[in-house]
Amino acid sequence: MGRGASLAFFWSFRAVGAKRFSLLPRVAPHFPMHGMSERSSLGENGNRDVVRVELGERSYDIRFYWDEPEALARDVAAFCPEGAFVVSNPTIWHLHGERLVRALEVAGIPSCVELIGDGERFKTLETVSRLYDRLIAERYGRRACVVAFGGGVVGDVAGFVAATFMRGVSFIQVPTTVVAMVDSAVGGKTGVDHPRGKNLIGAFWQPRLVAVDLAYLRTLGPNDLHGGFAEVIKYGMIADAEFFAWLEEQMERALALEREALQHVVRRSCEIKAQVVGADERESGLRAILNYGHTFAHAIESCGEYRERQFHGQAVAIGMVAAAETALQLGMFSCGEAERQRSLIERAGLPTRVPEGLCADELLDRMRSDKKVVGGRLRFILPLRIGEVTIRDDVPEEVVVGVLRKLGAK
Ligand SMILES: NC(=O)c1ccc[n+]([C@@H]2O[C@H](COP(=O)([O-])OP(=O)(O)OC[C@H]3O[C@@H](n4cnc5c(N)ncnc54)[C@H](O)[C@@H]3O)[C@@H](O)[C@H]2O)c1
Ligand SMILES: [Zn+2]
Repeated sequence: MGRGASLAFFWSFRAVGAKRFSLLPRVAPHFPMHGMSERSSLGENGNRDVVRVELGERSYDIRFYWDEPEALARDVAAFCPEGAFVVSNPTIWHLHGERLVRALEVAGIPSCVELIGDGERFKTLETVSRLYDRLIAERYGRRACVVAFGGGVVGDVAGFVAATFMRGVSFIQVPTTVVAMVDSAVGGKTGVDHPRGKNLIGAFWQPRLVAVDLAYLRTLGPNDLHGGFAEVIKYGMIADAEFFAWLEEQMERALALEREALQHVVRRSCEIKAQVVGADERESGLRAILNYGHTFAHAIESCGEYRERQFHGQAVAIGMVAAAETALQLGMFSCGEAERQRSLIERAGLPTRVPEGLCADELLDRMRSDKKVVGGRLRFILPLRIGEVTIRDDVPEEVVVGVLRKLGAK
């Protein structure tokens, strides 16, 4: 279909430590924007939906499928003529592995499968090292192709292995969670955790292909499904009021995994992420807007029950409510829009209040020790209206504490 790309965000500066961003489609709701183009390619099963991430010579496709591991495997095979080194975990493998391997075989490429432990605690250099051992034992060289088959943990670890083995080999993402599909598989951030903090070790390494089979989400647990939708709502808030309004109409259908609704949700989220990454691959500015809700979220995640279990999306949901409330208190955002966001978050089955027992002062302390704090100033992405955010590093701490108390913190 080849519709041309256009620069569709504007980036203007405000007086006090604030940058104002908006990513507004100019012509039509889903008109392709900078950093992304849109086309349909004819797959063997008809028209295949594709979003292109434009990064010069590192550009790649995000392709969408529905319960079609065979078509997906054919597309993967085109990038790994010498075989696929598939990284996954036992949970995903038990559910979906056999069919994928068979499909890869039929597509004519041998594959070697290495499973890593399930969970964030396996996102470590030890796991990476084990993967190098296997690659070397199997005599893979510079033409190796690493395929990540799983959620964000598998993707981040496998991507880091691909970025560093032999100074970098081909990498393909086959994401199986909402978070991986709309966030971690797109954009090239790879890495592992360090005992002192999350994602402290990593590299930028773009995949050659992101192959998204939406039907994998049918087996995802409810916490991960709902949590992923926090990031989806985030995209509406930071970049696309029309998408937000569409979510207000279609949230239940999307959560019920109705194919068309789900495809729109994941596709539009990928487009926005692709656009932001295309404009700022290494997070020197614009990419920071993807952290909307995350300053509060990271603090909540490091306390209480959220520390033991992984509830990132749930923490982001609370963080977005807190960011909106902060903007409201600073007179930058309207009550009506804050309520629209709160209500959509609730309908997505996500929390809107700080978990019981957490203390506002402790949360503030956690925010101060976040690795992203620059020059001792807390940085917040705050909404100006639905679809447009601004970055502020001048929010008074009393306001932050007040907001946290209002949302239920001690
Ligand atoms: N690189 C990036 O830009 C980026 C962005 C966001 C998050 N992340 C990282 O992603 C990770 C979180 O990713 P996640 O939320 O996908 O968590 P995850 O990878 O731990 O997956 C969540 C759970 O779902 C299971 N699972 C995966 N697919 C399934 C399926 N189809 N059916 C049933 N179960 C399935 C997994 O085994 C796991 O138990 C974190 O480590 C985070 O730091 C990275
Ligand atoms: Zn997030």
